[in-house]
Amino acid sequence: MSHRVAVYPGSFDPLTNGHMDIIQRSLKCFDTVVVGVAVNPAKVPLFSEEERVEQIQTALDHHPRVQVLCFQGLLVNFAREVGAQVVVRGLRAVSDFEYEFQMAHMNTHLAPDLETLFMMTGADHFYVSSRLVKEVGRLGGETRRFLPPNVYSALLEKLGLKEGE
Ligand code: PNS
Repeated sequence: MSHRVAVYPGSFDPLTNGHMDIIQRSLKCFDTVVVGVAVNPAKVPLFSEEERVEQIQTALDHHPRVQVLCFQGLLVNFAREVGAQVVVRGLRAVSDFEYEFQMAHMNTHLAPDLETLFMMTGADHFYVSSRLVKEVGRLGGETRRFLPPNVYSALLEKLGLKEGE
């Protein structure tokens, strides 16, 4: 059988345990998972692209079957460049569906051979998003259980907080 490559794209600002769950489950289905950190010049992220790439590599302990790369421009072009046959996306709730449905169809229009595969986010993670974790963190709420340990430390540092604050 040919080498199965999936691309898992996202902003990952920052990586959450929900993302980790999808990556780990994707590794059961694919030989290589390419985590694509999207660089969107229209958005100001909390973490730079280099920080996000490093955080993901560390959280995954530099897994030999995971590649972490930044990309700019169309996802379908990036997928083609890395030789992926499939795009993986996590679906948390019905509210994700419309946006994901539009993206999947647009990507199919742009690259008919590229398949999109949706994974249901694990029950422990369905209400977790990078946006909410940042907001809760900024307002002094506890975010430890939503993030890999290295990302949790990086978030506290970025927000100028110490553990327990
Ligand atoms: O984590 P996010 O922010 O939900 O990820 C969205 C992402 C990065 C997957 C999406 O915005 C994307 O694919 N961006 C790349 C540009 C592109 O291809 N746009 C057309 C999508 S149909």
